[in-house]
Amino acid sequence: MKIYGTLFIILLLGIGSFVGFSNPPRNQEPVQNTTQAFNTMMKVVTHKRCMNCHPNGDRPRQGEDSHIHNFNVQRGDDGHGTAALKCSTCHQKANNDNSGVPGAPHWHLAPISMAWEGLSDAEIARRIIDTKFNGDRSIEEIEKHMTEDDLVLWAFDPGVNNEGIPREKPPVSEKDYIQAVKEWIAGGAQIPEQ
Ligand code: HEC
Ligand code: HEC
Repeated sequence: MKIYGTLFIILLLGIGSFVGFSNPPRNQEPVQNTTQAFNTMMKVVTHKRCMNCHPNGDRPRQGEDSHIHNFNVQRGDDGHGTAALKCSTCHQKANNDNSGVPGAPHWHLAPISMAWEGLSDAEIARRIIDTKFNGDRSIEEIEKHMTEDDLVLWAFDPGVNNEGIPREKPPVSEKDYIQAVKEWIAGGAQIPEQ
C-alpha cells in the first residue's frame, strides 16, 4: 500500500506543478516586486510619525514640522528620559486626546544607533538590518518588531495634538505597510541602489 501512497503524492505534485505552470508565475519580476515593497515600506519609515522618535541627537522631535520637543526633554541613559523628567511623566500607555499627549506602551526614544534623521532610504534600511545598529536583532526579529511593536503601530493611530488636530498618518495604510515589510523580507531584504 505504501507504494500507492507515494505514487499518489507524486501524482498530486504533478498536478500541482502543472496547474502552477498554466497560471502566470506570481513573482514574474521578483526584483521589481521587492523594490516596490521596499519603497512602500520606506514611505512609512521616513514619515515624521516614525522619524520624530528616531532623531539624530538627544532630543525627540514633535509635530508635523518635527520641531525639537518642548520642555527640554532629553533621552537620558536609556531613552526613557532623565531622572528629573521621564517620558512616562507625560506619555501614558495610550493617546490622551484631551491633553494631546500621544501614548503607547514603553514610550521612549530610539537609541542613537537607530538614528535615521539625515540618512537616505538605503542608509536607513542598511541600519535596520545591521545587527551592529539594530539592537542585535535577526531579520525575523526585525520583521516582528516592524509589524507588531506598539511604538511602530502607534504611527497608524497617532491621536490628536494639543490643539485637538488629528496627527497626520503615514501615506500607506497599516495593512499595506505590514504586507510590504513581509514581502521585502521574504524577497531577501534587498536594498535597491540609489
Ligand atoms: C512634560 C511632558 C512630556 C515629557 C516629559 C515628554 N513628552 Fe513627549 N510629548 C509631550 C506632549 C504634550 C506632546 C504633544 C505635542 C503636540 O503634538 O503638540 C509630545 C509629543 C512627543 C512626540 C511627538 C509625536 C509626533 O509624531 O508628533 C514624541 C516623539 C515624543 N513626545 C517623545 C518623547 C520622549 C521619547 C520622551 C522622553 C525622552 C518624551 N517625549 C517626554 C509631552 C512630554
Ligand atoms: C515613541 C517613539 C518611537 C516611535 C514613534 C517609533 N519608534 Fe521605532 N524604535 C523606538 C525605540 C525606543 C526603539 C528601540 C527599541 C528596542 O531596541 O527595544 C525603536 C526601534 C525600531 C526599530 C529596530 C531597529 C532599528 O534598526 O531601527 C525599527 C525597525 C523601528 N523602530 C521602526 C519604526 C517605525 C517603522 C516606526 C513608525 C511606523 C517607528 N519605529 C516609530 C521608538 C520609536
